[in-house]
Amino acid sequence: MVGKVEPRLLFPFLWVLLFVGILLISKGLHFHESLLMTSSKEVLNVHPLAPINAKHVDLINNPFTLEGHMFWSSIVGMNITPGIFDDCRNLAGELTSRHPLPKVFHDMYGPFKSKLKTVLSDGKPPEGYSLKYKGESLVFWNIITRIPHIETVCETGFNTGSGTLLWLTAKPNVHVYSFDIGDHPYAKPMADYIQEQFPGRHNITWGDSTKTLPLFVKKNPRIQCDIIYVDGGHTYAVSKKDFENFSKLGYTGSVVILDNYPDYRLTFMKDLGGMWEDNRRLMNILEVFKCTYGRMRKQGFSFGLLTKTTTHT
Ligand SMILES: C[S@@+](CC[C@H](N)C(=O)[O-])C[C@H]1O[C@@H](n2cnc3c(N)ncnc32)[C@H](O)[C@@H]1O
Repeated sequence: MVGKVEPRLLFPFLWVLLFVGILLISKGLHFHESLLMTSSKEVLNVHPLAPINAKHVDLINNPFTLEGHMFWSSIVGMNITPGIFDDCRNLAGELTSRHPLPKVFHDMYGPFKSKLKTVLSDGKPPEGYSLKYKGESLVFWNIITRIPHIETVCETGFNTGSGTLLWLTAKPNVHVYSFDIGDHPYAKPMADYIQEQFPGRHNITWGDSTKTLPLFVKKNPRIQCDIIYVDGGHTYAVSKKDFENFSKLGYTGSVVILDNYPDYRLTFMKDLGGMWEDNRRLMNILEVFKCTYGRMRKQGFSFGLLTKTTTHT
């Protein structure tokens, strides 16, 4: 027997319907918000120094997924936009003020600077080094400390060893293989100093990397470079060779960093830029981020992930 339903009996049902509706709408808005992530502040809702664990390793290799984008954005402290030149000044603005390089680094950097002063006998400043740029150094620090499997750094361009100091201070299990032509008088005494401070954790090969690296790769095929840092000879030919040689010791997902590109100067754009963009086009590098300083577009840096889709000869 079907009778008429009393309207007042419907009230509780309508309340439940209203509650469920509100819940669904608010969830939908939240999801939409996290997808948009238009300002760097929203991105930083992921704690910039939050550790990642093995479960999340996948997102490191996928900067274009939502989680991967959020992870890499929290590493650089701003919303990453692969493929375009961001402004490196935003790295410093967001990150250095909130999370400067930690005390553990400065405890090593103070004595390092004093040592450097004693070996700069002619009083001339050393060649350019990335530690000069706070935001950039902090990005390097974040990369090495937040990606747990990074242990081996392969770099061309030791110079004073300030970059090497950063890698070695970041984690006790890091080993650095450096390659430098050795034409600066301060380079060798500084390499001795680094090796005294970090016994057994630093190797350096002196000479032109286009000649020394292929030999090293042949002799040490089992070394796996988790970070490939190209900052030696700043020409198209040398940087290309350095990248190609290191790639042989890398794997899909090795982090590739190129210093000084982008830069407004035509030679840098043509040389380092040409090397980076050519390898990007060949899909040897999956670019994550590149930035340049200010409206003058002064020398920044770029980084991405190595993809081993082609064999280098
Ligand atoms: C810009 S500095 C490196 C800075 C260093 N990464 C740092 O953060 O302090 C470049 C270094 O590469 C070295 N270099 C230049 N051409 C080279 C080559 N063909 N092979 C190896 N090293 C080279 C220079 O002597 C110099 O020490």
